Amino acid sequence: MSPIMPEVKAVPNVSSGGAEPLPAGTDVPSTAVLSTRDLNVWYGISLALRDITIAIPRNQITALIGPSGCGKSTLLRCFNRMNDLIPSARMTGEITFEGLDLNSAETDPVSLRRRIGMVFQKPNPFPKSIYQNVAWGARINGYRGDMDELVERSLRRAALWDEVKDKLNKSGLDLSGGQQQRLCIARTLAVDPEVILMDEPCSALDPISTARVEDLMDDLKSEYTIVIVTHNMQQARRTSDMTACLMLDDGAQHGHRTGIIAEFSPTDRLFTNPKDPRTEAYITGRIG
Ligand SMILES: Nc1ncnc2c1ncn2[C@@H]1O[C@H](COP(=O)(O)OP(=O)(O)OP(=O)(O)O)[C@@H](O)[C@H]1O
Ligand SMILES: [Mg+2]
Repeated sequence: MSPIMPEVKAVPNVSSGGAEPLPAGTDVPSTAVLSTRDLNVWYGISLALRDITIAIPRNQITALIGPSGCGKSTLLRCFNRMNDLIPSARMTGEITFEGLDLNSAETDPVSLRRRIGMVFQKPNPFPKSIYQNVAWGARINGYRGDMDELVERSLRRAALWDEVKDKLNKSGLDLSGGQQQRLCIARTLAVDPEVILMDEPCSALDPISTARVEDLMDDLKSEYTIVIVTHNMQQARRTSDMTACLMLDDGAQHGHRTGIIAEFSPTDRLFTNPKDPRTEAYITGRIG
């Protein structure tokens, strides 16, 4: 099927199918938690992502880099069906999560988003207390355990407990930007996800808060799989194990540029010995 126009009107019930070899040059580890195959995403008639085949390794940090508009956020949103909330978004291809078809009609997007949590670019605490911010997700998911213990554990894991333990009833909005972002991470952790998607989580933070979030990611990866979108090349290098470099390709649709994966490699190699000339041009600042 041509990737130019979508044939599928709604989020399709695609089969997860058998495992076929990935395209030559795609360097993926064997233990994938999430994977896509031949994923195409449109907004209306504009093809935003084309032929995306990627496998996200378990308990590692995968960075998505690439120029503005190449579809990094779109890809991240496909991973927890946030694009379902955008009426013009359509997709074809496959996304598999723990071997299951992520877009199947049987997959409940709300429970999926509990298993695949998301942290956004701009910290977005609720206008509620610090305690309520963390407890909220667990409460609506019917958590029956000791809530005080869960709130403390989540705040500790998010490296925020010591800074807020004496003011849990104060509004989450009264925290600094870096603290708010760690509060949002604590809120995500409180529902015990398996994967954490982070869309430029440090772009609104100062270098000290950024370092704290990066340290935290490093701690978390023993228990979680993390996918991070970043414009900060040093951050991708410092934090991630694998890096996917997305690019804009103008070949497919006249006048409209479409995101593709130029290269997906172990981070060290992508930054020291990129296989694709477009990756090299991007990481050296010659394009993007
Ligand atoms: N809700 C939407 N409706 C229509 N088009 C959209 C929507 N969201 C994104 N797009 C388009 O899809 C393409 C990819 O956008 P996306 O936000 O995924 O890129 P990005 O790589 O995250 O960019 P940035 O680095 O600027 O955040 C762009 O052309 C964008 O204009
Ligand atoms: Mg984005």
